[in-house]
Amino acid sequence: MPHVHTGAQPAVKVAVLGAGGGIGQTLSLLLKTGLAPASVAQQRRVHIALYDVNRDAVAGAATDLSHIDTPVSVSWHAPEPAGGADPLADPLQACLAGAQLVVIPAGVPRKPGMTRDDLFNINAQIVRTLADGIARHCDLARVFVLLISNPVNSLVPVLVETLTQRCRADAALAAQIPRRVFGLTQLDAVRASSFLHQALDCEPSETAVVPVVGGHSGNTILPLFSQARLEPARGSGAAAESRTESAAGAKTGSKIGAKISAKLGSSILNDTAGMMPTLDPGVRQRLVHRVQFGGDEVVRAKNGAGSATLSMAYAGAQVACKFAEMLLGARNEVRDTLYAKVSGHAAVDAITEHVGYFSVPLTITAAQGAAEADTRLLEQMDTYEREQLWPACLAELRESVDRGLEWAHARG
Ligand code: NAD
Ligand code: LMR
Repeated sequence: MPHVHTGAQPAVKVAVLGAGGGIGQTLSLLLKTGLAPASVAQQRRVHIALYDVNRDAVAGAATDLSHIDTPVSVSWHAPEPAGGADPLADPLQACLAGAQLVVIPAGVPRKPGMTRDDLFNINAQIVRTLADGIARHCDLARVFVLLISNPVNSLVPVLVETLTQRCRADAALAAQIPRRVFGLTQLDAVRASSFLHQALDCEPSETAVVPVVGGHSGNTILPLFSQARLEPARGSGAAAESRTESAAGAKTGSKIGAKISAKLGSSILNDTAGMMPTLDPGVRQRLVHRVQFGGDEVVRAKNGAGSATLSMAYAGAQVACKFAEMLLGARNEVRDTLYAKVSGHAAVDAITEHVGYFSVPLTITAAQGAAEADTRLLEQMDTYEREQLWPACLAELRESVDRGLEWAHARG
């Protein structure tokens, strides 16, 4: 078996599926360096298992990573080449066996002129194959799955439905699946933070925190600049943590208001509550558009060589590290904004008009999965967000969700 530096039985095993790709390699680097025991407060063993159908890419990445002197062990797994030594070996099984966290960046990225939806057919098939593997080889009552592959809006429903179909004989287990499977929309919050920081010309000591809800494509990405705030920069981990908090703050609102006044002259408007100053409509519209279509900027700049990889790996590692830390016992819960099946959360389900899947702040525990969803961000949207952005977000998201559900049900 092509293992590299496997070490003893790990306390936590993280599997990365698609680890040989642009996101997968960088994400694996950030896990190898970010999950060193010193950073998770407990001296427990962590193992990352890398899988890809591109054997050379994953073997190379894992071997390279294994030379980094952090106490996180690495293994790699790939299908045998034709005529290989052990044609019966199942590399996906070897990768997934015992994994408590599975991160999936496997799939095809966009080229200029393509939408994320254009990736649906090929990536849905890949996700379904990997879901079959997860259902066969992981403990579905314990594992968490984080999906990166696009289109996230449709593929999370494919993943949830496929896993649910695979354990439908056990209704209690099937009911747990939506609580443990999430799509990663964190890159949108990272972009919103970055773009607002640039627009306000903030100090390096400040972090702009912008909650983003909805989905991960165009109009479905709903950046809530009305609830943005500035916070002291406390390193990327802490910044990521604060992105998950809900509005929480007239105090920070007035601070960001002062900043906006100073940087953008008279472009301050006050909300009806008089507490949370808002950006000038033109400035805000440009920021919203840039966040919604930020992925296109990277696709255009790469000019056919793919889409965002480094920023996605950064965003993905923020979330994956928090899950791993929870599994290691270094934190009690994960509080994050994740794309999930929300029909089980009555309040979110009602507000989102039963769209089915939505990215909202969730509180997740190792035992229960997503136990709680926080609706405050949705309740506190301002008029522009509620009247201009919200209807388009829901309409487009509904189509994407339905596409994923129909595809999965047709193959169930
Ligand atoms: P990439 O082509 O560099 O890497 C994808 C990897 O997946 C490749 O190494 C490929 O061999 C592997 N792969 C393909 N089929 C596989 C299978 N069945 N099993 C295992 N591995 C398989 O692409 P990338 O730039 O890393 O992007 C990957 C995906 O992530 C794309 O779909 C992209 O659109 C998406 N993405 C999502 C976000 C987000 O915010 N959620 C951000 C950026 C990119
Ligand atoms: C992104 O937002 O960068 C990703 O979803 C990749 C893409 O296709 O834009």
